[in-house]
Amino acid sequence: RRTIFSGIQPTGELHLGNYLGAVRQWVQLQEGGDDVLFCVVDLHSITLPQDPTTLYSQTLGMTASLLACGIDPSRAVVFQQSRVPEHTQLAWVLGCLTTMARLGHLPQYKEKSAMQKEIPLGLYVYPVLQAADILLYHATHVPVGEDQLQHIQLAADLARIFNNKFGKTFRAPRSLVLGQDAARLRSLRQPTKKMSKSEPDPRSRVALSDPPDVVREKFKKAVTDFTSEVYYDSQERPGVSNLMVIDRAVTGRNFEEIQAASQGLTTAQYKLVLADAVVEHLAPIRQHYNHLLQEPGHLDQILERGAQQARERAANTWSVVRHKVGLLGKL
Ligand code: TYM
Repeated sequence: RRTIFSGIQPTGELHLGNYLGAVRQWVQLQEGGDDVLFCVVDLHSITLPQDPTTLYSQTLGMTASLLACGIDPSRAVVFQQSRVPEHTQLAWVLGCLTTMARLGHLPQYKEKSAMQKEIPLGLYVYPVLQAADILLYHATHVPVGEDQLQHIQLAADLARIFNNKFGKTFRAPRSLVLGQDAARLRSLRQPTKKMSKSEPDPRSRVALSDPPDVVREKFKKAVTDFTSEVYYDSQERPGVSNLMVIDRAVTGRNFEEIQAASQGLTTAQYKLVLADAVVEHLAPIRQHYNHLLQEPGHLDQILERGAQQARERAANTWSVVRHKVGLLGKL
């Protein structure tokens, strides 16, 4: 039986990139009879400074977003990372098995640290905590967008290194990435970069909770190029091509169908057509989200129930690890 695990940071709102690149796939995976866990990774969020007065409400907000997208706590274990202390405990052990050189080469670290004057240690060891998230539950498959591939590779390497040193304990996880380019949705403002929660300009991304007029405005302002025609060319026309990727993901039309249907439209007109399709697609999600936000106590309860299930499994793994590493005597 497959064990599926994935995580999402609670800082910033769930955007179209997260949704089309990862979360929509999670919803499908939970229907397949696999063992499925989804984690709101708040400890990863504090690797960069967070406002303590809003962090927890963001955790609840992200939980509401996941449920609104269709994640079902009766099919998947949905929980908050910091409620399960074994994540940080296992991260310590794994951190002793990798090198500073290995972590320093990871692209996400390079990108994020380049923007900091002083680099927090947490940002550096971030991928080790991510490996612990995955290995604690013996996950076999990790559904993510393209930007996470190197992190899953590190987790697989750490599983092997641990097994070689201490005896077979962990399975090496594999990433599950959508074949289509939705696994790397681009920013609406800088179409050569990925859509990201941390880009300062909010017009660069569409949040799932954005009201219709905001969604339309963001698509209207989306950066394209000087050719006012709709066709796909990801190299020469990253802006328009990214819009077509979004279109394909929400309407199910392929590129030829989109191009044929958009003949005679300027790119400005096409943006409005696409905006309407996105608004329509997001309407039920947004409604569900707004409804869930009104009951923070209910969301808190879901996270606690999820943590209870996760803790039991995490404690088993941690107990085995302590014995294998020699922190406790032989079993
Ligand atoms: P995070 O919170 O940045 O993003 C959550 C998921 O969304 C995907 N994603 C995208 N997909 C397509 N296009 C984009 N522009 C885009 N932006 C983000 C991400 O690939 C991710 O799948 N380190 C992780 C969280 C994490 C995790 C884990 C994931 C912590 N522990 C264990 C898997 C397993 C992160 O920061 O994701």
